[in-house]
Amino acid sequence: MNEQQRKEMSQIRQGTPADVKSDQDNLERIQQKSSEDFTKYFETTYQPPSLRKAQRRRKEDVKVHYDFTIPEELDNIGHGRKYMIRTYGCQMNEHDTEVMAGIFEEMGYESTSDTKEADIILLNTCAIRENAENKVFGEIGHLKPLKLENPNLIIGVCGCMSQEESVVNRILQKHPFIDLIFGTHNIHRLPQLVKEAMFGKEMVIDVWSKEGDIIENLPRSRKGKIKAWVNIMYGCDKFCTYCIVPYTRGKERSRLPEDIIQEVRHLAAQGYKEITLLGQNVNAYGKDLDINYGLGDLMDELTGIDIPRIRFTTSHPRDFDDRLIEVLAKGGNMLDHIHLPVQSGNSDVLKIMGRKYSREEYLELVRKIRTAMPNATLTTDIIVGFPNETEEQFQDTMSLMEEVGFEAAYTFIYSAREGTPAARMTDNVSMEEKKDRLQRLNKLVNDQSAEAMKKYEGEVVEVLVEGESKKNSEVLAGYTKRNKMVNFTGPRSSIGTIVKVKINKAKTWSLDGVMVEETIEVK
Ligand code: SAH
Ligand code: SF4
Ligand code: F3S
Repeated sequence: MNEQQRKEMSQIRQGTPADVKSDQDNLERIQQKSSEDFTKYFETTYQPPSLRKAQRRRKEDVKVHYDFTIPEELDNIGHGRKYMIRTYGCQMNEHDTEVMAGIFEEMGYESTSDTKEADIILLNTCAIRENAENKVFGEIGHLKPLKLENPNLIIGVCGCMSQEESVVNRILQKHPFIDLIFGTHNIHRLPQLVKEAMFGKEMVIDVWSKEGDIIENLPRSRKGKIKAWVNIMYGCDKFCTYCIVPYTRGKERSRLPEDIIQEVRHLAAQGYKEITLLGQNVNAYGKDLDINYGLGDLMDELTGIDIPRIRFTTSHPRDFDDRLIEVLAKGGNMLDHIHLPVQSGNSDVLKIMGRKYSREEYLELVRKIRTAMPNATLTTDIIVGFPNETEEQFQDTMSLMEEVGFEAAYTFIYSAREGTPAARMTDNVSMEEKKDRLQRLNKLVNDQSAEAMKKYEGEVVEVLVEGESKKNSEVLAGYTKRNKMVNFTGPRSSIGTIVKVKINKAKTWSLDGVMVEETIEVK
């Protein structure tokens, strides 16, 4: 750790809000009374969502509810109307969008992808980096003329950005034409919120600073019929010092194993071929349940379900235990592709990031995984340009990339997120330097991906066929077990099945081939 980092680290420690006042107030419902008395309201009544409150963690029971219903007077409110949801961010948000779509459809709404046709438009937002937020504010600007043309149009902002007080304040002040703001903890209240926005003609703000309970029986309108997402847990308690997610998504809450297993069984019966288990830190699954049951145990039970492929994301190296490795090594419908974000290859930087593992510990975990699963593909996430990262520390990331042999990586320039400890650090690395590091890292990532792809030339792989390729409708596309994208020629009847494809050409990020036989797995 360099001198500056040491100093910053000690300041962060002292400033860690362990002193946050405790307060049982878990719900802040705020409603602007009218646009005219906005200023008064803003000064006197309005309470923004609070990142500090969101940070409070206590062991308390999370109740599970199985009784979600749409009130009778609202279940036809969307008849003859259309909804549109634009989704930003991670799979968690994509899946929340499927839930909201399910609720809209139960209310009688139809979906549209045309903003001009829509009666309600929701932006399901992501707060992970500044550029993600800028995109959303750009889109809000684009939507304004639509609202002027059609005053009955309802425009709503939901998702992770809504959980940030600065965002809610900015919308209140600069984009008062927005009708509805709600967060990640209360999407089950969508029917009531839509009604308030429709009939109240006032900006409705309903953002909870603290997570609520788990609602099990929410409807879902899934985007595809081949692959499906299944939440296994919500929230994150890791508090990596750069990250906004623990604030926007609340504390870790695991779904009960039987509810997850039932959902996966149901999807298998519907003909789905691949399930991705979702959580921000799936390796912490079960820790909050007090039943001595973890991700390995869950996965073991899922191996018994008749569904060809099961993936999971995202893993945190810290909680990746031997039991999980043992279950994954059994193969079957567990795939040997592991996405294992490392963030940095330097132990000092990892320490300031609050990742709670060192370079050596990470490498030891990789060694264990490789011993149990010699063919496993490893991919990762990396942040470059963390405050005061030295060139030497960056070189450790480069060497780790090579040492592990990651076959793909999502790479990011560090982005300061208001309210996180790292955002309080001063930073002596210029943006120019950060961009240069990102470029050098990306070159290495591309080279390693191309090298891994090259090995498939002449090989036969199993591909779950998802549909036509985006670029050429004559060509079909799908993924291998190890998550390699394959474009190939074959009959359209193979869509939704797993087929064998002979690879004749490897590209940097995908493989080209020809189908060699009819479906090998028919359900
Ligand atoms: N829960 C996952 C990651 C969720 S966010 C995990 O811990 O691995 C996805 C990725 O975004 C992270 O892995 C990290 O690489 C990146 N990221 C998160 N916060 C960031 C920030 N403030 N600036 C730049 N990248 C960030
Ligand atoms: Fe963010 Fe860390 Fe949680 Fe991942 S584990 S969501 S990076 S705080
Ligand atoms: Fe973004 Fe929220 Fe996911 S911040 S990455 S949408 S959890």
